[in-house]
Amino acid sequence: MSSDTNSIESVHPLSRVPAQFRREFGAAGVLVRSPGRVNLIGEHTDYNGGFVLPGAVDRAIYFSVGARDDGVCELAAADVGERVRVPLASVTTSDKGWANYLLGVVDEMQKAGNSVPGFNCVFGGDVPIGAGLSSSAAIEAGLAFALNELFAFGMQPWELVKLAQRAENRFVGVQCGIMDQFANIFGRPDAVLRLDCRSLEFAAIPFSDRNLRIVLCDTGVRRALASSEYNIRRKQCQQGVEALQKQVGDIESLRDVSVALLEEYRTALDPVTWRRCVYVARENERVLAGCDDLARSDFTSFGRKLFASHEGLRDDYEVSCTELDRLVEIAAGVSGVLGARMMGAGFGGCTINLVKSEAVDALREAVEQGYPPAREQRSFFHVIRIEGGTSRLESTDADQ
Ligand code: GLA
Repeated sequence: MSSDTNSIESVHPLSRVPAQFRREFGAAGVLVRSPGRVNLIGEHTDYNGGFVLPGAVDRAIYFSVGARDDGVCELAAADVGERVRVPLASVTTSDKGWANYLLGVVDEMQKAGNSVPGFNCVFGGDVPIGAGLSSSAAIEAGLAFALNELFAFGMQPWELVKLAQRAENRFVGVQCGIMDQFANIFGRPDAVLRLDCRSLEFAAIPFSDRNLRIVLCDTGVRRALASSEYNIRRKQCQQGVEALQKQVGDIESLRDVSVALLEEYRTALDPVTWRRCVYVARENERVLAGCDDLARSDFTSFGRKLFASHEGLRDDYEVSCTELDRLVEIAAGVSGVLGARMMGAGFGGCTINLVKSEAVDALREAVEQGYPPAREQRSFFHVIRIEGGTSRLESTDADQ
């Protein structure tokens, strides 16, 4: 759903989506903005009860929704020009991939005991799909939020987060953790959120240094492998927990496992499982130490942890790919780039780079030179801002 010039898509989705809704369904509906997310550090730790540091961003999916009373939902994907019409009495998976993210939410809404009389929905945005910015959570949590507003179900923010996660787990079939849906709903402008994925306590950490930029470099690689390998990694972590439980008891998740403990029980685990586990233990340590860096505004030290995180994801967790490694390598050679690593589930998508403002152009040039596929993409380089989480907009916002 990235934007293009000289096409209908060059109109900002904030205008395009409600305009299409009015054309197709008449009266203006509830308008919602649902952002993508970045994660500064703490990758593949959420489903291990660990720590993450995400924030919502200035790329979003917009929804216009309106009620109907005939037990039908009609969903229109503005960016691909497709639509599906589904009777609410029998919500099943669609052969259109995009529809399942929405239908999963509708299904979970009904299972949660909310009576959905019927609705129309147009959605579209500028979150690059499959790029690691979690367009999927933006779609799921965005629709959950929009329906909660439209029908005044009275669901609380954490209920929306968990419902959207269940939609992805059960309907889409990816056993994702809680990070993306959490960042989408709870995101704050100019702050990243340190979430303890076990207790669900979180703290906002200001992140608005005027001399620093967060830059995403897109490999252009989209691999379906991400979801199957993702589920495999989850299982391997669970196997590690079970093997360690036999040795030391009292372990609920990898959150309870330190690097020192893993060193001690190295032979109790097969080598692959051990490497998966040690990556998670080290990454949790990096998130906590990284938050201390941010508190001291020591961005150099924080940036080094991004590089270390990438090495772990590449060598121990094995969810990187040659294209991501290449982009990190290029970034590491640019003076003024403090840190870089792959972001999200892996196997493609974007790297996240922490860059001094004055080095942004040099990074772009280095990527253009050193990574030829970048030049073939419509957009491969995104300088992003941390923004607020999902919110309802006034229809007048769309006229600006
Ligand atoms: C995906 C999942 C998240 C998280 C990341 C990896 O984005 O949806 O829950 O596990 O991968 O950190």
